[in-house]
Amino acid sequence: MPTPAPRHFLSLLDLSGDELRSLLARAVELKAMLRRSEPHAPLAGKTLGMIFEKSSTRTRVSFEVGMVQLGGHALFLSPRDTQLGRGEPIEDSARVLSRMVDGVMIRTFEHAKIEVFARHSRVPVINALTDQEHPLQLLADMQTWLEHRGDMRGRTVAWIGDGNNMCHSYIHAAQRLDFHLRIASPEGYEPDAGILAAAGDACTLLRDPMAAATDADLVVTDVWASMGQEEEQARRVAAFAGYQVNDALMARARPDALFMHCLPAHRGEEVSASVIDRPDSVVWEEAENRLHSQKALLELLMAGRG
Ligand code: CP
Ligand code: NVA
Repeated sequence: MPTPAPRHFLSLLDLSGDELRSLLARAVELKAMLRRSEPHAPLAGKTLGMIFEKSSTRTRVSFEVGMVQLGGHALFLSPRDTQLGRGEPIEDSARVLSRMVDGVMIRTFEHAKIEVFARHSRVPVINALTDQEHPLQLLADMQTWLEHRGDMRGRTVAWIGDGNNMCHSYIHAAQRLDFHLRIASPEGYEPDAGILAAAGDACTLLRDPMAAATDADLVVTDVWASMGQEEEQARRVAAFAGYQVNDALMARARPDALFMHCLPAHRGEEVSASVIDRPDSVVWEEAENRLHSQKALLELLMAGRG
């Protein structure tokens, strides 16, 4: 019998708006079930392979803990001590691993790599961050928004800073959840033109961070130098001067505006300590929601598959 084609999550665009909304509602439900210590093991006997070619705290811990809570098991695979780091073709790694595990999560550099892996995999593949996108973080951010403010439809979000992987996934979220995204990036650090163009009027690209933040419901930023760009740090600090999310910038947003950051954060660079450490900061819940929203995703992709 031919194996049915697996469903992958390589991009936020792999879910429809309705699917994304129901996944977020499920994440809220799974969080409440965990708080009540209600046992829920739909992934009993299943294994998630976790390939990390970049560092991680949140992603690794949330997947490992999430799999245990769902009754399954997670396997940490580092290129340092697997054949992946010694040049075994990605196609062969996908063919072999997907005959043993029930799902694979990959954090890597080139987005094309996870697409190749997915094409040769018999099991669902999840994008756990590439240079191009970080869709899992959007599940957590949008769950956090839902819990505090309800639906995203019609809201205005300000993205301040680098047009990076997180920014690209915010562009996708604006398309799927019907909010408007204003992006303020310095010259040369704008998001990918194709990703932006595909979003049509869901997004506006600006230069001025204050203009982007004006009357925004949600203000978001991320580090100025992402993983793999460490040697550009000094040049980027100079280029991003004036793009810090601080009290003056938050004062332009709506009085009840939320601030989010995927973490890890660099206080004094992209965000001031006064903003991220505000007593009502939701960034810690945002981090916790990586666990709940990814459990909802694992259920969607892996539960019920043979
Ligand atoms: N936000 C995020 O993906 O964190 P980690 O790099 O710690 O996984
Ligand atoms: N843009 C950051 C996100 C880290 C979670 C990076 O890619 O390093």
